[in-house]
Amino acid sequence: MAAEAESTAPAGEQQTLVKFEREDGVLIAIIDNPPVNAGSWGVRQGLADAMALATQDNGIEAVMIIGGGKTFISGSDIREFGKPLREPQVPQVIQAIECCPKPVIAAIHGAGLGGGYEIALACDYRIAAQDAVVGLPEVRLGIIPGAGGTQRLPRLTGMSTAIGLITSARRVPAPEAAKLGMIDAVATGDLRLEALRAAKALAGEKRRVRDLPIPNEEEERIRAAEAAAMKGARGLLSVPAALRVLREGAGIGFDAALALERAAFDELRYGEQATALRHQFFAERQAQQVAGLEKVAPRNIETVGILGAGTMGSGIAIAFLDAGYRVILIDRTDEALAAGRARIGENYAKSVAAGRIAQDRATQTLARIETTTDNEALARCDLLLEAVFEEYDVKLPVMRQLGALAKPGAIIASNTSYLDLDRLAEASGRAQDVVGLHFFSPAHIMKLLEVVRGARTSPEVVATALAIGKRLKKATVVAGVGEGFIGNRIYAAYRRHCEFMVEDGAAPEQIDSALERFGFAMGPFAVSDLSGLDIAWKMRQRLAATRDPRTRYVMIADWLCEAGRLGRKTGGGWYDYPPAGGRGTPALETARIVAECRTASGRPQRPFTDDEIVRRALAAMANEAALLLAEGIAQRASDIDLAMVNGYGFPAYRGGPLFWAARQPPAVLEAAMDELAQAAGFGFHRADLAPVLAGA
Ligand code: NAI
Repeated sequence: MAAEAESTAPAGEQQTLVKFEREDGVLIAIIDNPPVNAGSWGVRQGLADAMALATQDNGIEAVMIIGGGKTFISGSDIREFGKPLREPQVPQVIQAIECCPKPVIAAIHGAGLGGGYEIALACDYRIAAQDAVVGLPEVRLGIIPGAGGTQRLPRLTGMSTAIGLITSARRVPAPEAAKLGMIDAVATGDLRLEALRAAKALAGEKRRVRDLPIPNEEEERIRAAEAAAMKGARGLLSVPAALRVLREGAGIGFDAALALERAAFDELRYGEQATALRHQFFAERQAQQVAGLEKVAPRNIETVGILGAGTMGSGIAIAFLDAGYRVILIDRTDEALAAGRARIGENYAKSVAAGRIAQDRATQTLARIETTTDNEALARCDLLLEAVFEEYDVKLPVMRQLGALAKPGAIIASNTSYLDLDRLAEASGRAQDVVGLHFFSPAHIMKLLEVVRGARTSPEVVATALAIGKRLKKATVVAGVGEGFIGNRIYAAYRRHCEFMVEDGAAPEQIDSALERFGFAMGPFAVSDLSGLDIAWKMRQRLAATRDPRTRYVMIADWLCEAGRLGRKTGGGWYDYPPAGGRGTPALETARIVAECRTASGRPQRPFTDDEIVRRALAAMANEAALLLAEGIAQRASDIDLAMVNGYGFPAYRGGPLFWAARQPPAVLEAAMDELAQAAGFGFHRADLAPVLAGA
């Protein structure tokens, strides 16, 4: 794992976490800090001790650093990040390695990331197991490598490659790492044995990376790498900081460059973005903890049946295949199945073409999927998941069928976005086995998974759903049953308030650009166009009968739909789109519809500032989030922050809507809440934010 490791060692721990062995004149320092061998103080001190020992002891010719358990040093101990670091810090350990007169070998299996890979970079030789990954993922945590990573890596890979690796935070598989020069060799057999051989082969020779020159490269290539990095940064301050340190560091002496890097690292470490990203990091882990499930063992799931091979069904199939499950994909017709299969095949073909996976791996993965129109195949599955049309008339009979077909102990899941899970669960006749697994589109890419716990879902089934989320590498959040669960409900409130602002005088494109500048991947109107306006339109029609006529209702989206403007797929929605695809442009037709709605509403018009737009939109999210917490649909504030970042394009470096709200001056937030109440008018539920923000 990235500099994303956790340690279980309590703060203030005195004992070191490195065991020593000796073999054939080589001192073997074995990192022993389960579960992920984070670079906690005890590890750093243990490594410093190893170097001291090797320096003094004439019987030692070389040192090998290797991880005990399942990994090398997988990253720094993030728990230590927000606090003053205890000595020895990583740069001091690195200095000890470089000053040690005997060569030091890093033998990497599992993950050698962040501070772990920086330690490997200080060694005289790096060898990794075939399935190991290495890299410098710090920028994702709002910081930069702070122990020489930005200065040593370019000496091995060249500047433009180092820029790409550091600013993309990419974890590089060992075979590719060897090609790039990040490591010296890939072990073909036993890692420890081959590392020992390499240690002997060095015959006492030091080969410090710091003494190498940075390979010559054309300035043009370096500039192109910098430009690409900035394009991907999207407001993340750590990326330009890394670029500056890489460029300036290359032009000064090595020690001065290290000092420059460390200063930038220290500045970022305490900054707002790094704090927000650490909040997200811990939110993801905390979301796994659900009251009452501590001692519940999950069921074993290996074969997954997916009913519905549409957009979602095929994406979900890829997600399960990638995680090693067997998948049976079912649809009503051969045509629907063929289309689903083609989507899945295309996904792997693209991954192979882009070099993300090897052809034989793709072939092996695809061998784990079976497609059929025969529902009876579901009887063989441990998990039966439906992703059929979003209508009770379709889903209720499907749930009845799943209930009848599922073998004892199997779990039945629905991917519904809005329907009442309890009603679906009752239809199955086995409500205790039913859970919502709400994936987001595209299901194999979007990181969020909402696990929807019905009134009668058994604890074991919830625990299994969480275990599935973990194996799928999703950010998994448990939600209770309610319209839109967590994410869609908050997003609906946000979008509603953005529409209020449009009706009161702000242009849709102003709202989008203000929120994009705040850091959203896309503004709400661009998102609507992308996903299609018809889905929400259908939902509004479904809810129309129960809507109180006194509640404020903005007609613009309905009128756009009536005019056939359903979004990108019809060439226009909120924006117009060029036939060849690409960015939308403000549409005259939309402006006309907006103007008509404004007139029809009779509301006073006024200009909005960008700041006001952002405050209002985010306060709407925070208000709805607090209501969800009060209703018990979400269990904690950080779960909501996690959901909005991983499913709705909320910028991770802003921490999430409640993290954001907790950092606003109380008077400013209160004023924004007053504006929300005034804009919404009748029926607005104003949440009490104080208790929520105290814990955010
Ligand atoms: P889709 O229309 O692309 O696919 C639905 C598939 O289900 C079609 O291939 C259809 O032939 C099949 N189907 C319908 N009735 C069936 C039956 N009785 N037996 C077997 N197959 C049947 O729809 P999409 O977008 O994949 O959505 C599916 C579900 O996923 C819906 O419940 C939707 O709310 C949910 N969802 C959709 C999201 C999205 O962004 N599209 C996001 C999250 C959830």
